[in-house]
Amino acid sequence: MNTPIFSTLKDASFDPLIVQEVAPRDGLQIEPTWVETADKIALINGLSSCGFTRIEAGSFVSPKAIPALRDGEAVFQQIERQPGVIYVALVPNLKGAERALSARADELNLVMSASQTHNRANMRMSCESSLLAFDRIVRHAMAAGVRLNATVATAFGCPFEGRIDEDRVIGIVDIYREMGIEGITLADTTGMANPRQVARLVARVLERLPAAALTLHFHNTRGLGLANVLAAYEAGARRFDAALGGLGGCPFAPGASGNICTEDLVNLCDEMGIPTGIDLRKLLALSRGLPALLGHDVPGQLAKAGRNVDLHPAPDYVLQI
Ligand code: COA
Ligand code: ZN
Repeated sequence: MNTPIFSTLKDASFDPLIVQEVAPRDGLQIEPTWVETADKIALINGLSSCGFTRIEAGSFVSPKAIPALRDGEAVFQQIERQPGVIYVALVPNLKGAERALSARADELNLVMSASQTHNRANMRMSCESSLLAFDRIVRHAMAAGVRLNATVATAFGCPFEGRIDEDRVIGIVDIYREMGIEGITLADTTGMANPRQVARLVARVLERLPAAALTLHFHNTRGLGLANVLAAYEAGARRFDAALGGLGGCPFAPGASGNICTEDLVNLCDEMGIPTGIDLRKLLALSRGLPALLGHDVPGQLAKAGRNVDLHPAPDYVLQI
């Protein structure tokens, strides 16, 4: 059903919006303080009980590039896997894919930037070298029967190169699909997307693949994250990455900041009547533990404000008037 999201119909019913939780990967990769393996596992186990169907639980990249996630094996091996939850691992190269497969990741998420400059900064290789590596990873993963997703990072803009040609993004999506990669993510690595641009690109990509195969990954760097979600949903996208507490960011993108915040997104959906299947109370309890775990405040709004239904007692003087 494609009910317009700003429909004023009282009984309007909406397609579910699928949230993939990425705090254990995108969220923790940029944290300056080491998070103990046991705490990562507890976080993922907590998230697993909130109703997510997909959790990006870590990455298998060079430990020199991202020291914060160097314990990927231990994390994937020790989490309690909930039936129905797909545990995704981000990988940059064949070595990462081999590590992820032996740690029993359910799905590999390959990442390359649309921008050559950001790909060189992040992956230390050209886009062409990334694609060559992907070709080998795909054959490896297919032989192992593991799901595949590939991300186009900086799809809506690059902090080094600025505007990204939409035809280039579409061209990369086509290459990924020709390689046999089922899932595609369009990532706004440093929050440069705007809702009109998002609607346009999503509509073009959905001419090529079903909504079930497309994920949008927004960062809230310029405050447009949830506006972009609504634009993408209206254009037919149904799956979105978000991070508990609004954590996240790419350490190799200047000015990067957090992903859209999961509990803020789920609250938006709950208030508008868009089903997500996620338990917001449980999510808020987890999010409120983040400042103690990480040693700093986090960007999410809802954990501070509470839900609309979390009312306050009237002050005494009001009762006396
Ligand atoms: N897992 C573990 N170690 C890895 C690895 C992986 N996936 N890939 C490479 N390494 C190791 C190599 O074994 C080598 O180790 P050594 O110095 O002890 O011999 C070292 O890392 C350098 O290997 P090399 O292939 O030359 O890599 P590089 O320095 O050119 O870096 C990447 C390329 C892709 C490995 C690195 O840039 C990377 O991991 N980037 C990911 C960044 C990221 O996660 N960004 C945020 C998410 S989008
Ligand atoms: Zn990101």
